[in-house]
Amino acid sequence: LIASFGDRSLAGLKVVVSAGPTFEDIDPVRFIGNRSSGKMGFAVAAAAVQAGAEVTLVAGPVGLATPVGVARRIDVRSAAQMHAAVLQAAVQADIYIGAAAVGDYRPQEVSAQKLKKRDGGDLVLRLGENPDILASLSAQTTHPFLVGFAAETHDVAAYAQDKLQRKGLDMIAANQVGDGLGFEAADNALTLYWAGGAVELPRAAKSELARRLVAHVAERYRAMRG
Ligand code: CTP
Ligand code: CA
Repeated sequence: LIASFGDRSLAGLKVVVSAGPTFEDIDPVRFIGNRSSGKMGFAVAAAAVQAGAEVTLVAGPVGLATPVGVARRIDVRSAAQMHAAVLQAAVQADIYIGAAAVGDYRPQEVSAQKLKKRDGGDLVLRLGENPDILASLSAQTTHPFLVGFAAETHDVAAYAQDKLQRKGLDMIAANQVGDGLGFEAADNALTLYWAGGAVELPRAAKSELARRLVAHVAERYRAMRG
């Protein structure tokens, strides 16, 4: 009942949220992945629905149920697939929130057959760089309001502010990972940065943190784009 009378700050807006890790296949049975659980991104999608947005959720490989009210969910596996899905969905969108932990590199060659162990030697994988989804969007002449995430183990503020500038973002949500915080945890804590401002969102359940994040995104969106 409370939720249905809650904040409707994103009413009438189309929001695309990416969530989860990406998996980069090495061969039919192995891949390179990361520790993202998808929980924060799914919580952001749920909070955007609650705020009245029409939400498209682009999800990496996670075992999470689609939040109630999400208009469409697009499941992807690799960073290249996520890049393509987000760019297509973003054409219609007012806001893109990139909560996914996108793999930076992928094996340059994907073996069609299972790689066999050869005793007594190292295996060398050559990795090629993946395209940056946020940077691709920000390079377009018209693009949605862009929100990034920065999960860092050290120098959180400096790296986050650098990513805000370098990727041409409207806002970035930074958090410390490691030592029981971040990826697999139920709680999180974020600091939001935008050009000329910052706010700390102290440690809370990811669902609550997502609601606060969405409220700030809505406020900055309205300030910049009406
Ligand atoms: N991101 C993206 N496309 C990529 C890599 C990252 O859109 N290929 C987005 C993430 O979804 C996140 C933001 O960029 O919103 C920051 O991701 P992060 O991995 O912290 O930034 P990188 O630029 O990849 O820097 P690094 O991994 O070296 O810290
Ligand atoms: Ca990265």
